[in-house]
Amino acid sequence: MENKWVNLKSLLEKIISESRRPDYITHAQNSLDWLLKLEPNATQEMKLAIFAHDMDRCWFEKMTQVENEEFIDYKIRHSHRGADIVSAMMMTLEFPIESIKRVYYLICNHEIGGDREANLVRDADSLSYLENNLPGYYERQGKEATQTKIRFMYDRASGRAKEMVRAINFAPELRELMNETLDLEL
Ligand SMILES: [Fe+2]
Repeated sequence: MENKWVNLKSLLEKIISESRRPDYITHAQNSLDWLLKLEPNATQEMKLAIFAHDMDRCWFEKMTQVENEEFIDYKIRHSHRGADIVSAMMMTLEFPIESIKRVYYLICNHEIGGDREANLVRDADSLSYLENNLPGYYERQGKEATQTKIRFMYDRASGRAKEMVRAINFAPELRELMNETLDLEL
């Protein structure tokens, strides 16, 4: 059984590396690292869900918010598309149905949380966004969009994850942006 998870992770790594967004591998790996800091005993389902939670962005063009759509509804559409892809792969590879349902649930809820495990996956995504994705996002999207994203990623995180943000080694400009946006003193 252990082998099946290792093989699927290798397959996902290969797909990401050959995809339209090979750079996503750093966020996949970094968010897995954060999950293991938050929960060293994370299940295989949690580890797979966090590693693969943004797979849809490798597979397809990035989703965009449509007119009159709430930001959170757009994020949920993105979550469901990723969950569909990963669970379909697991079905093809004949994973047990309980594992497939669990991974599906965790990816569907990685933006908003849910039960304890979904909250940990969400926290790991937030911490990884702030540590790993923030510099590139700021460069591509500019200040206003980045501030909206920072608020979303920070506000949804648990109190414990918010404390862990303090351990991130931000570049001076981004530290300042974090402080200004969240009214913090990092
Ligand atoms: Fe993510």
